[in-house]
Amino acid sequence: MTKVIDGKAFAAKVRAEVATHVAALKEKGIVPGLAVVLVGEDPASKVYVKNKHASTVEVGMNSYEHRLDAATSEADLLALIDKLNADPAVHGILVQLPLPGHLNSELVINRIDPAKDVDGFHISNVGLLGTGQKSMVPCTPLGCLMMLRDHHGSLAGLNAVVVGRSNIVGKPMAQLLLGDSCTVTIAHSRTKDLAAVCRGADILVAAVGRPEMITGDFVKPGATVIDVGINRIERDGKGKIVGDVHYESAAAVAGAITPVPGGVGPMTIACLLANTLTACCRSNG
Ligand code: GUN
Repeated sequence: MTKVIDGKAFAAKVRAEVATHVAALKEKGIVPGLAVVLVGEDPASKVYVKNKHASTVEVGMNSYEHRLDAATSEADLLALIDKLNADPAVHGILVQLPLPGHLNSELVINRIDPAKDVDGFHISNVGLLGTGQKSMVPCTPLGCLMMLRDHHGSLAGLNAVVVGRSNIVGKPMAQLLLGDSCTVTIAHSRTKDLAAVCRGADILVAAVGRPEMITGDFVKPGATVIDVGINRIERDGKGKIVGDVHYESAAAVAGAITPVPGGVGPMTIACLLANTLTACCRSNG
C-alpha cells in the first residue's frame, strides 16, 4: 500500500510545538516577531502573505505586515529593511518574491540581516548551508526534509534525485539531502533521459513548476515522492491546483507520496514559523 504523507497534519504538529515554545518565551517577556514585506499586488503573493500573517498570530507571535505600492523605489524598500534590521522586536524578515521588475531581488534580499533572514535566501546563509554550518534553512526544502526524516528515519545511503535547480528549492534541497548522507543528483530541463534518471531514485523530489510532468514511469517501485509543485490549471471548465507530479500514476508505483494540496505547502509556513522562533532564540542567547 502506498503511504500518503499528510503534510497538513504534520504541519499542525510543528505549529503546535512552535506555539508551546512561544508561550514559554512569553513567560520571560519575549515575543517572537515576524515582519513580512509585500511590494505590489501579485494575487498569489497576497494570498501567501495573508496566510503567513494568520499562522504567525495563531502561534502567538507578533506579525508586522508592510504592504508597499508596486512603484516603490529600491531606496525606499532598502530603507524599510534597514529599519526592520535595527528593530529588536523583529526577529524574522521575509520579503515576498517575486518583486516587481524594477527592483533588484538579490540586492534587496542581501540587505536583510542574515540572522533575521527566515527565508534562508541571503548569500551568507546559502554559503553556511553549503558548507554544513549553522544557518537559516529555506522553508520549503526544510519542510520536505522533515517529512522525509519522519518517514524513513535515516536517509543515509539513499539515492535522491531533485528535479529542479532553483535557488529557493532545488539547490538547497540537494544540500540538505547531501547533509543527511544521500547520494544526490540534481536533474533539470536539460537532463538527458530524465525518466531514467528519476527511476534511479529512492527519494524523488519534484520542484520544476510544470503541472503533472512527473508521471508513474519516472518512479521506481517503492520510492518516496515529494511533490513541491503548486500549479493552478483549468480542467473540465474549473480551476484546480495540481503538483509537478501526476498523482494517480505516481501513487500507483510509489511507496510514499505527498499530495497536492495538503503535502509540502502547509509545511512551508510551519517551517517559516519554526525559523522565526529559531531566530528569536538565537538573538536572545
Ligand atoms: N515566493 C514564493 N515562495 C516564496 C518563499 O518561500 N519566500 C518568499 N519570500 N517568497 C516566495
